[in-house]
Amino acid sequence: MKLCMIGTGYVGLVSGVCFADLGNNVICVDKDLKKIDLLSKGRIPIYEPGLTELVKKNYKNKRLKFSSDLKKSIKNSDIIFICVGTPTKKGGSSADLSQVYNVAKEISLSINKFKIIVTKSTVPVTTGDEIEKILLKKKNNKNKFSVVSNPEFLREGEAIRDFIFPDRIVVGSNDKKSNRLMNNLYAPLISKGAQYIHTSRRAAELIKYSSNAFLATKITFINEIANLCEKTGINVEDISIGMGLDKRIGSRFLRAGPGYGGSCFPKDTKAITSTADKFKINLSVIKSVIKSNESRSNFLLNKVYKILNNKVKNKRITFLGVTFKANTDDMRDSSSLKMIPALSKKGAKINYFDPTGLKKEFSKVKNVSYIDNIRESVKGSDLVIIHTEWNDFKSINFKNLVKGKKFIIYDMRNIYSPIKIKKQGFKYYSIGR
Ligand code: UGA
Repeated sequence: MKLCMIGTGYVGLVSGVCFADLGNNVICVDKDLKKIDLLSKGRIPIYEPGLTELVKKNYKNKRLKFSSDLKKSIKNSDIIFICVGTPTKKGGSSADLSQVYNVAKEISLSINKFKIIVTKSTVPVTTGDEIEKILLKKKNNKNKFSVVSNPEFLREGEAIRDFIFPDRIVVGSNDKKSNRLMNNLYAPLISKGAQYIHTSRRAAELIKYSSNAFLATKITFINEIANLCEKTGINVEDISIGMGLDKRIGSRFLRAGPGYGGSCFPKDTKAITSTADKFKINLSVIKSVIKSNESRSNFLLNKVYKILNNKVKNKRITFLGVTFKANTDDMRDSSSLKMIPALSKKGAKINYFDPTGLKKEFSKVKNVSYIDNIRESVKGSDLVIIHTEWNDFKSINFKNLVKGKKFIIYDMRNIYSPIKIKKQGFKYYSIGR
């Protein structure tokens, strides 16, 4: 099939290249000329394992193309995916849909034959209805399109695997023809066992938000239980295992940590409550999840102060990892963005190392330095905070790292065994253990 992905951000690029790899002809469009130029040279603007190789392969075999010519790309395609950003509105909590609606206007001007217009971006329930209205403003477009919702459930760092082996493929449309075509598009994945579900368009839109909000709730739930574990001498991991073995609960997303971050959960939890408010429905559970997660960094910071006996000034603190999770260079809503400036304000001297080499992230924060290897970054440190669960931090021999030096370790991802590390003579703190 001939596909057009509008927006070559995370969603558009990963989905586009994976569809090309399944044998479709895909054109990825972006108004950012520099980005298109870079992509055409095989240079990928985001860090995602396996993506560069897949882009190069499919670009070479000509199934994947990059362009900034939106009109031409739309005209030449059968299925158009809208993959532009839906960030939180400035100063508010609802999703800013201006990019989606601008794209819809552009599409409305270039419909030359029947097309399926798919929202892959995360959009609030009823956005598909609005897109349809925009497309119908041009009378000639009547009966020449179908608007479909096909949300993505890709995790950063695992996106290609998630695309090829999805837990489910959700397609929401209000007509049979578009469902048939979408089912054909996903046939190679369905034949390998992927579950394909067809719903109304509005239901598909809401499935996406409800899924993210539920996962965010699970994480926040276990983080609060971890706080109780710390006070009562219980290991939160026993709780996660004990709860998770109940098939109704499930063990995934029950890892306590520094709170959820990234480009999706914080934005989507806010947007779903804001949409519900518009319909005069109070999603009080999700609202309290947002509040709890927003206070998580402060909660952990207070623990850091306690660990340092409230003497933070001139203390050397090392952050191992600053991204919101491993295998990504994404810093959006990472808890390190709150913790590092707060500690710097209190007079701490901070080193950080991240495997993605994000050197400039804290260049405007006083007393923060990027050090490009683990050993050097912890030299002279009073406290080492393991902030992100990169593999690079999973088998550190702390004893041999800096001879004779016993820094305190605060493991915010529960990577190490408290007993083993304490045996090596280190003061060790973790989450809910
Ligand atoms: C999330 C969803 O998992 C994807 O299904 C969805 O497609 C995506 O948002 C999106 O809406 O585009 P992502 O933001 O890449 O994916 O990250 P996750 O792996 O879900 O992690 C989110 C946050 O939760 C991270 O900060 C992570 O450290 C934290 N987390 C996750 C925990 O603290 N504990 C856990 O057990 C799991």
